[in-house]
Amino acid sequence: MKKIVVTGAAGQIAYSLLFRIANGDIFGFQEPISLSLCDLPGSERAMEGVAMELADCAFPLLREVTIHTDPFSGFKGVDLALLVGAKPRSPGMERADLLNDNGKIFVEQGRALNEVASKEVRVLVIGNPCNTNCLIAMHYAPKIPRENFHALMRLDQNRATALLATQAKKLVSEVKNVIIWGNHSATQVPDYSHAHMQGKRVTDFIKDEKWLKGEFIELIQKRGAAILNARGKSSAASAANAIIDAIRALYTPTLPGEWFTTAVITDHNAYGIEKNLVFGFPCRSKGEGDWEIVEGLEWNSFIKEKIEKTTGELLEERKCIEQLLKRK
Ligand code: LMR
Repeated sequence: MKKIVVTGAAGQIAYSLLFRIANGDIFGFQEPISLSLCDLPGSERAMEGVAMELADCAFPLLREVTIHTDPFSGFKGVDLALLVGAKPRSPGMERADLLNDNGKIFVEQGRALNEVASKEVRVLVIGNPCNTNCLIAMHYAPKIPRENFHALMRLDQNRATALLATQAKKLVSEVKNVIIWGNHSATQVPDYSHAHMQGKRVTDFIKDEKWLKGEFIELIQKRGAAILNARGKSSAASAANAIIDAIRALYTPTLPGEWFTTAVITDHNAYGIEKNLVFGFPCRSKGEGDWEIVEGLEWNSFIKEKIEKTTGELLEERKCIEQLLKRK
């Protein structure tokens, strides 16, 4: 049985996520599931309502649902922690503004993971700014390998894949190996230069290089903000879907020659990105929840410049929370 905690369990993303997890969408249709719902004090009734609906689905795999407002009880024995909950960004607010408020949440959650989660736990941080929140959580969980922590970049990968497919009039399933380097923010680097469609380069189908280097990249970088402006709320269903895809990618052997993007610790990367950042890289998995960075992909000068910018932003974010990283 897999025990999974979802924080922000009373929120919008969780409402799109929990039912799919309980259905078996992450670990397949043989693996029983125990769900731990965790959210802030005051959310108990809303979580009870979600638990009632989960029960009413009569999911064959769902063995247990528990409700928590304290991560030290909610994270007990978990194999997978999906850290969705964070103060949401409101229209016009920059994600860097969130660092102070949300940093504190991830200190406490890191400590809870350290004390009570399975030592094999895999952690995916979704709450923004997710890369730096992830860095905080891993700092406060020294008993858990830093390699077990991820920040969600799959939503960006999915957005870029879908947009390229639409532009080239191809099927989404025909577009492979789009990479998102760096931070899940407006500086992220959607990179089509190693992607292919039906085995050919993207530029064989999309001839308009001005669009690829301009509008394409900007649309992906600003997609989260565009959805926020349109809905008055952050993306939810597409974020939940990306969480499912991100974890499945870690637990499914990656096909030869393919890769997926996840944000992981930079401590052992061969691309020269400074250590102790959580950075989006192309990765592969052998299927056991592990990953390795796909090394040796070349950056043209255009991509290199953008990667420097997103790295610079991550360094700035880290500077904002350096006091938190000094403490234990
Ligand atoms: C997204 O990319 O849709 C989310 O991360 C929303 C946000 O606040 O940027």
